[in-house]
Amino acid sequence: MQHDRTHWLHGHEAVCRLRPQRPARPRRIALVGPPGVGKGTQAALLSSAFGSCHLSTGDLLRAARQREHTPVANQLSQMDRGGLVPDDTMLSFIADRAGCLNCRGGFVLDGFPRTVPQAEALDHLLARADAQLDLVICYDLSVPELLLRLAGRLYCAACHAVYHQAARPPREPLRCDACAIELSRRQDDQPEIAHSRQHEFLTSTAPLLAYYGERGVLVNVNAAGSPDEVFNRTLDAIANRFG
Ligand code: AP5
Repeated sequence: MQHDRTHWLHGHEAVCRLRPQRPARPRRIALVGPPGVGKGTQAALLSSAFGSCHLSTGDLLRAARQREHTPVANQLSQMDRGGLVPDDTMLSFIADRAGCLNCRGGFVLDGFPRTVPQAEALDHLLARADAQLDLVICYDLSVPELLLRLAGRLYCAACHAVYHQAARPPREPLRCDACAIELSRRQDDQPEIAHSRQHEFLTSTAPLLAYYGERGVLVNVNAAGSPDEVFNRTLDAIANRFG
């Protein structure tokens, strides 16, 4: 199922046409892990399985950059260098989309939060709706395998679907299965930038893991193996949490 994520990608003036499913207990899950570990791939699978929206901050920022006259476009230049977008900028994007965090269908956050200030701001936004993050899944994989995944990634700029030239090839070479658009490589997957992104993860996101560990919501999942194998481990982790 392809979800309509207009509101998430375009902000509060957009209208979300996706009718949320109403599970007895909405799952509010965040996926963290180094670049290329498979957060986006797993978030898409979880979103299809649970009917909750896949909220990717990477997709959000790439969409913002594509829009003409985006006033914050200059502040997003960190993405080209493999660094993080400043917390203030990121949090203004998130505040503008707080409705997605209060959705009755729950959510799968992909790539947010990445710093302790972002995690604190998320807690604050959720508390306003009397909600909290239920589970933070951190995926682990060796750096050589991460770099192989990034080196082979193919990306659809229209629907944000993700492929891998060897592990998850599209049905037709370089064509998106869903919308037939020509697939591209992400600029930040170039080897030098990919290395910088791994470094940024180690320096900025390690404290975040301690933050969630102390709150008892963090679970580590081994990201080695096929996407389906990782997905089964992810479902086990979620079942352990939600029963
Ligand atoms: P973002 O787009 O979030 O990038 P990322 O976190 O670096 O993660 P990736 O999208 O590179 O990888 P992924 O883990 O989602 O893996 P994927 O499923 O695609 O962010 C981009 C930039 O935006 C950041 O660098 C930063 O500048 C900025 N940004 C975003 N959020 C921010 C925030 N909160 N604060 C500040 N700045 C922020 O898989 C990778 C490849 O592997 C694919 O080809 C896939 O097909 C393949 N694959 C997946 N799983 C498997 C598997 N099990 N086996 C084999 N291949 C697999």
